[in-house]
Amino acid sequence: MPSHWDPQRYLQFSDQRLRPAVELLQRIRLDAPEHIVDLGCGAGNVTRLLAERWPAARVTGVDHSREMLDRARTTASTVAWVEAHVADWTPAVPPDLIFSNAALHWLEDHHVLLPRLVAGLADGGCLAVQMPRSWGLPSHRIMRELLNEFDTPEELRRRLAHDPVGSPDTYHGLLVGLVRKVDIWETEYLQVLEGEDAVVEWVSGSGLRPVLSALSDEARDEFLAAYREKLRAAYPMDEAGHTLYPFRRLFLVARC
Ligand SMILES: C[S@@+](CC[C@H](N)C(=O)[O-])C[C@H]1O[C@@H](n2cnc3c(N)ncnc32)[C@H](O)[C@@H]1O
Repeated sequence: MPSHWDPQRYLQFSDQRLRPAVELLQRIRLDAPEHIVDLGCGAGNVTRLLAERWPAARVTGVDHSREMLDRARTTASTVAWVEAHVADWTPAVPPDLIFSNAALHWLEDHHVLLPRLVAGLADGGCLAVQMPRSWGLPSHRIMRELLNEFDTPEELRRRLAHDPVGSPDTYHGLLVGLVRKVDIWETEYLQVLEGEDAVVEWVSGSGLRPVLSALSDEARDEFLAAYREKLRAAYPMDEAGHTLYPFRRLFLVARC
């Protein structure tokens, strides 16, 4: 999957994207973690919140997107930014907190990944994760259906064919025997987006990104025109210019 992220586009909806990270952060009961890692830290806006909450901690942000890390580095902070794939990454020191907001749904095989992350924690450490459960939303279903009409790499089709994020009880079953306590919940936000084709704008900064980069310039324009039309019907904009976009997210906090 290409790693070209556009920080500007992603941060266009920064309020809505930041809120779940803040809510996850509030559920972490750690007094003085020494080592904190933010996996899939992106442009670093959430990583900086971690550093602010625990100023004495050594905080590392890990991401495989150079574009996102370049953006993260534009703001001075004490965070160490590391360019790496989560799948290949192993911490130099067992972290007291592994935090990940809106990133692990880009990786597969959570039944291997999450136990590995938990096993790498320091004693008493915590894994805190938030992932969108967006695969079944009309915006994503329509994206996949429309994509069938275009010539796209097999790898992309394969990845989009199934939901990488499981149900809450799946994660409970996966973690309950490995940690002291596991807290899992879901929240559905009724997001009110503003402006024309707001849902297309939203997904362009996240889930639509690999689809658009897999299409030729001509096919991309054709795809976008058809996608906009379908999403206008699925998510109509009201007279005030508001589009309602219900969006579900899964949260988990596992404490060793
Ligand atoms: C939706 S952004 C979230 C960024 C940040 N956590 C936030 O809440 O603002 C997802 C980030 O995960 C990163 N990412 C996705 N898959 C990754 C992987 N396998 N290894 C490292 N980073 C990854 C992307 O590069 C991107 O910056």
